[in-house]
Parts: sequence; structure tokens; C-alpha cells
Amino acid sequence: MTKNWKTKLIHSDARVPEGFRSLSTPVYRASTVLFPNAAAVSDAWNQYEVGYTYGLYGTPTALELAGRICELENGVRTLLTPGGQAAISLINFAFLKAGDHVLVPQSIYGPNRDFARAVLRRFGVDVAFYEPTIGSGIAELIKDNTRLVWCESPGSITMEVQDVDAIAHAAHQKKALVVLDNTWSAGVYFDAFAHGVDVTMQALTKYVGGHSDLLLGSITARDLALYEQLGATHQLVGCAASPDDCSLALRGMKTLAVRTKAIGESALELANWLGPRPEIELVLHPALPSCPGHEIWKRDFTGATGVFSIVFDHKFSKPQVLAFVDSLELFKIGYSWAGVTSLAVAYDFGTAKGRPGYDHRIVRLNIGLEDVEDLRADLSRALEKMTNP
Ligand SMILES: Cc1ncc(COP(=O)(O)O)c(C=O)c1O
Repeated sequence: MTKNWKTKLIHSDARVPEGFRSLSTPVYRASTVLFPNAAAVSDAWNQYEVGYTYGLYGTPTALELAGRICELENGVRTLLTPGGQAAISLINFAFLKAGDHVLVPQSIYGPNRDFARAVLRRFGVDVAFYEPTIGSGIAELIKDNTRLVWCESPGSITMEVQDVDAIAHAAHQKKALVVLDNTWSAGVYFDAFAHGVDVTMQALTKYVGGHSDLLLGSITARDLALYEQLGATHQLVGCAASPDDCSLALRGMKTLAVRTKAIGESALELANWLGPRPEIELVLHPALPSCPGHEIWKRDFTGATGVFSIVFDHKFSKPQVLAFVDSLELFKIGYSWAGVTSLAVAYDFGTAKGRPGYDHRIVRLNIGLEDVEDLRADLSRALEKMTNP
């Protein structure tokens, strides 16, 4: 067929040599996916069953990342979302309906708690919050209509390590599902499915991405029935993950082991150094006995990553705590964590119901890949300035 040059812009006959091989997964961007014939057209979402049908359900770039996350987490299948918070909302949409009851730990990531309060309650779901170290005591809170029990271990900011086995045991007796935010462990230091979890999610934004430059989430299911329910909802909610971000995450994943090792070692060293400092009341690092649930961390986790919190002595005012954060030079101030740059954020639990009495005295640290002695010197300078401005 002869073609006008304008047609050639769309339907080119140019060919590239075959046989290219490299070490990276190509970035396949697509909304439209081509079918071999008219009868083959289908909008089915499960690309593993029906082949590729639409970019929303994942191009090979996204499915490779999903497969690799699934392999690391020992699940049966993984879905990707445009961020960790999207994974959280999708899980809720997939499993909850009006009249159901859901249990959420008080230590859960703030927007997860806000979603439960603002959206789930508006849709007629009965939301109750529980003390994160409750363990088997959760049995008393589980009702006949409890459908989901959320866990996050360690919890956001306050770092309580949860007895996931005990919670899962109690939940399963009443046929409730257990969902775990497994972001802190990077999906590798806590084998969630071996501890009774049904569905995990991670903000891949954090350690898998690892460089503070992408947003992605994952949801991994323990069995195919759960995956089917999640996948059907993923389709309807339209939660596509960008292939470009998936490509960055695939690259980040290759260095996950060396990053988490180096970051974890520096974090532990700094946490141990901070513990005895006179300015500090408490170091909330799961590997230290001062962290609630430390014994469970020792029992269940195979490593620690680089996020922990410090609680200042009662004598320090809020302006002094803020001044500590402001006087850090290497630690930058900003949300999200698990990148290569150290970060510090001060929180104030003054009015929060059900949170420990740390009020304005808590600061969360994200340890990056800077030299640990430089980080120690930075913290030391800021602590001295806080006491003697
Ligand atoms: C524990 C935890 N879960 C989920 C999220 C949400 O991830 P994203 O920022 O990718 O939406 C975050 C983000 O800070 C988090 O800390």
C-alpha cells in the first residue's frame, strides 16, 4: 500500500534490527493495547488469564514490577496503584460494604485513619480504632460483622510493633480478613503471609523506589480469590500505575538490599547513641527495648530499616523541638521517607485521641545514605543548640 507522508507518521515501515538485549525492563507506555482480530476484543482486567487488553491493567513494565514485588512478599499476585494511599483506599473499596465493621490501629498512617473516618463512615461502614499493642485482646473487639482488621507494624511515627500472629488468629476465628501496611519492612524484613496476613500493601514510594522521586503502591494477596476481588475493584476504581514510575521502581529494587542494609545500620547506630542523651526521654526504634513491641520485633522481623522516632524530655517546649529540627543541616524537613536523604519531621499529638502522651515532643527521623558520623555530628550540634540557643 502506498502511503502519504502524513500516514507514514502514524503507520511507518521503518524497521529496527532484531535481537536487542539489555539488563533493564523496557518502559512500555500504553493506553491502547492491540487485539489480533475483532472477535478478540475484551475489557477483562486479569491480564494473566486473558493476555493484554488495556493499559489501565498494566503493561509489561508494570506487570514485571508487580511480579517481582509478589515474589519478594511470597504472595500469589500483586496489583500496582499510583501511590500507597491509593492502595489503602482500593483495599477498603474491594472488601467493605455498608453495615460492615472495620478495626484500625490508632498508630496507622494518618491518611489511612482519615480515609476510615471521612469516607468509610460516610458509606455506612462502622469504624473502630484499637490500641496497636492489643495482641490477642483484639478478640474482644471483633464482631460478627467485622470484615477487615487493619495492621501496620511498626506503626507510623509512634512505631508500635504489632503481634500480627495473635491478631490474625483472632480475626480468622471470626472470618475477618487481616490487611497489613508492610511499608516499613520494605516487604522483605517481615514475611507477612507466614504470620497470617491475608492482604499486604506497601507504599513503593518508600524503600522500593528509594530515591524520593516517584509515587507507587502495591497490594499483594495471599490467594487468588482475594486477588480477583481486588483486581475487579482496581479496574472499576481506575487505579493505573505509570509505567515510567514502575521503571524507576524496578531500578530502585535492584539496590534495595544494599540500601536497606546501610540505612538500617546507620539508623541503629544513631538510635543507640541518642538513647542515653539527656535531652531524650525515649527512642522509638523497634530494635531497641524502649520501643513498644520490641520483643515482637525480635521474634518476627529479620531486619530493621531506617525510620524511627525520638521523644524529647518533658522540659522541652514546642518551639525548642521545632528549633532542633530547624537547626539540623544534613537532615532536611519533608514528608515521605526511605529515600537516600536524611529527613526530620516534628509531630504534635497534643489533641489526638488514643495516641501516647508524647504531645509536641516527638520527631520522626528518616536516616539516609550520608556518612553516619556526619549525621551524628549534625544531630549533636542541633541538640546542643536546643539546650543553649
Ligand atoms: C506507612 C505508610 N503507608 C502508606 C503511605 C502512603 O504512601 P504514598 O505517599 O505513596 O501515597 C505512607 C506515606 O507516607 C506511609 O508512610
